[in-house]
Amino acid sequence: MASNRNLLVLPGDGIGPEVMNEVRKIIAWMGKKRAVGFDIKEDLVGGAALDKHGVPLSDDAMKTALEADAVLFGSVGGPKWDTADFSKKPERGLLRLRKEMDLFANLRPAKVFDALVDASSLKPEIVKGLDIMIIRELTSGVYFGEPRGRHTNAKGEVEAFDTQRYTAPEIRRVCAVAFELARKRKNKVLSAEKANVMYTGVLWREEATKLHKESYSDVALSHMYADALAMQLLRAPKEFDVIVTDNLFGDILSDEASMLTGSLGLLPSASLGAPDATGRRKALYEPIHGSAPDIAGKGLANPIAQTLSYAMMLRYSFDLGKDADMVELAVENVLKAGYRTGDLLVGNTDGTKKVGTQEMGDAIVKELDRLV
Ligand code: IPM
Ligand code: MN
Repeated sequence: MASNRNLLVLPGDGIGPEVMNEVRKIIAWMGKKRAVGFDIKEDLVGGAALDKHGVPLSDDAMKTALEADAVLFGSVGGPKWDTADFSKKPERGLLRLRKEMDLFANLRPAKVFDALVDASSLKPEIVKGLDIMIIRELTSGVYFGEPRGRHTNAKGEVEAFDTQRYTAPEIRRVCAVAFELARKRKNKVLSAEKANVMYTGVLWREEATKLHKESYSDVALSHMYADALAMQLLRAPKEFDVIVTDNLFGDILSDEASMLTGSLGLLPSASLGAPDATGRRKALYEPIHGSAPDIAGKGLANPIAQTLSYAMMLRYSFDLGKDADMVELAVENVLKAGYRTGDLLVGNTDGTKKVGTQEMGDAIVKELDRLV
C-alpha cells in the first residue's frame, strides 16, 4: 500500500552504508510495530556515484531528491577520491543537493546525554544538561559565493580565491528560522559573525537586529563575534540556547559543539528549505560526522547520529513527534544501559559494554520493542 511518505535514501561512502543499515532496521520496525511506512528509493552519492556515473550525484538522483518528501543522507568522501577533479569531488554531490533543494537552514542540535557526561573532554559540571541548537546558513556564503577559483596573477604567482557573499534576504530567512525555533525552546538567540572585520558580518548583524525588532522582539537576541563564541562554547556552553550563524562559521562551530557532547558520532542534523504553499519543506537529514574512512567497513562506526537524523526526519518532515521521541528515548536508554561504540569509550568507562555498529543498532531496536 502506498504510504504517501516518499523517502530517498543516499547512504554514500565510508561508514555511511553501515550506519544506514542500522537505520533500515529501525525503519522496518516502525513499519511493523507503529504502522509508519515509507515509499523508499535509494541512490548513489559521493564517491560511490563518481565511480559509477562519473559525477558525485547523477541528474536522475537529483531529480528524485527534489521530488522526495525527505532525503536521508549518510556521508561522502574518502582518500580514494582525493585526486578527483575539484568540481567532481564527492563533497560536491552533497553541496549540489543543498543548493538545488535550497536547504538554507541547517539545524544542528548538540545535546549531552546524562549517561555520556564523562565522555566529554570538558568537566561534567560544564556540560551536564547541555542542550543547544546551532542553525547554520547552508546555501550561501563562502561555500557558494562567486567569483571563486584559481589563476596565475599579474606577478606570475598562483592565486586562489573564494567569495564570502550574503544578501539581506538570505540572512533574514535563516534568522527567522532561529527565532521561530527559539520560541519553542528557551527563547534565546545568539547571532554570530565577524562584524568587526567583514562587510558580510556587518550586514548580518544589521539584518538580524532589524528582523528581531520587526517580528521577534519577544525573543532575547544577542550578538557575538564568531571567534569569541568559539571560546565561550568551551567556557560556558550552557549559556546558549539557539545559535545562528553563516555557512563557514556554522560548519566549524558545530564540529566544536559536537565535541562537547563526547563524540561526533552522536549528532544528527536537519537541512530545511522554505515551506511551500502546502506548508511542506524540502528536507535532508544527515549526521554531522563524515565518512570516517579509517574505520569504514570494520563494523566499528557509531550508528547513533544516523539514527537520530532519522528521528529528526520523523519530527520535522512527517509530524511524527511521538515516534521521534520514542527513537530518541531508545537511544538514551541504550546509552544508559552502558552500550558504547569505540568512539564513546573515553573517560570513565565503568559499567559499559563495548559494541560494534550492528550490536548498537540491534540494542536500539530491542529497546524500542521494550518501549512499545
Ligand atoms: C558538513 C561537512 C560538509 C561541509 C562537507 C562534507 C561538504 O563538513 O556537513 O559539515 O563542509 O558542509
Ligand atoms: Mn563540517
